[in-house]
Amino acid sequence: MTNPTNFWAVVPAAGVGKRMQADRPKQYLPLGGKTVLEQTLLRLLQSGVFTAVAVAIAQDDPYWPGLELDGHEQIIVAPGGKERADSVLSALRVLADNAQEQDWVLVHDAARPCLTRMDINLLIENLQDDPIGGILAAASHDTLKSVDSTGITGTLDRNHIWRALTPQMFRFGLLKTALETFTGNPAITDESSALELMGFRPKIVEGRPDNIKITRPEDLALAEFFWGRQ
Ligand code: C5P
Repeated sequence: MTNPTNFWAVVPAAGVGKRMQADRPKQYLPLGGKTVLEQTLLRLLQSGVFTAVAVAIAQDDPYWPGLELDGHEQIIVAPGGKERADSVLSALRVLADNAQEQDWVLVHDAARPCLTRMDINLLIENLQDDPIGGILAAASHDTLKSVDSTGITGTLDRNHIWRALTPQMFRFGLLKTALETFTGNPAITDESSALELMGFRPKIVEGRPDNIKITRPEDLALAEFFWGRQ
């Protein structure tokens, strides 16, 4: 039987990226002759998986208009919000005219341009029969400590600790309801946390460690290295 559900992608790209200390938001820094955001969007478009890609852009963003992908037939622009979760919800609302409750949506950070087709396929293969969804994640190889102002208070059991990556893949209707339910809640730092707060147990799928998020100045050189090797 063929799978009747559509796949949609959402890319929150409305952050300012203060930790980069750059003259522009990190998604507009140069990578491989284009911007980081364009390289990320191209990875999603070239996978051939998605009906459309909704990208959340800040309302006063002077960098997006004029980029080659502005106006691309498979890209839909949504107004960015105050926090990441607001930007994602804004993009889901723009897609809601055409998306069905049971469709899949993959949310992927603009600042992760090294996403491979292999990881997109792995996520989909592992989750497409699941009622909820899940996320790409990486095991932690370092010993992890909990700390307060007095010093180290404990050592975490790293068998139970994973680093959340993106894409995060969820049923469209469920994710939209979860983000609407917890709008403004500072604990919602990714899509999975909204589903977790609703009582669901999203799955994890081990992703490639080179799917890094550009956060600090040194990350751009690392992304260039991985991106060039792929
Ligand atoms: O700042 P951080 O790296 O956690 O942001 C993750 C992603 O969320 C980035 O792609 C950023 O552009 C996006 N974002 C957004 N709207 C906000 C804040 C962040 O789309 N208000």
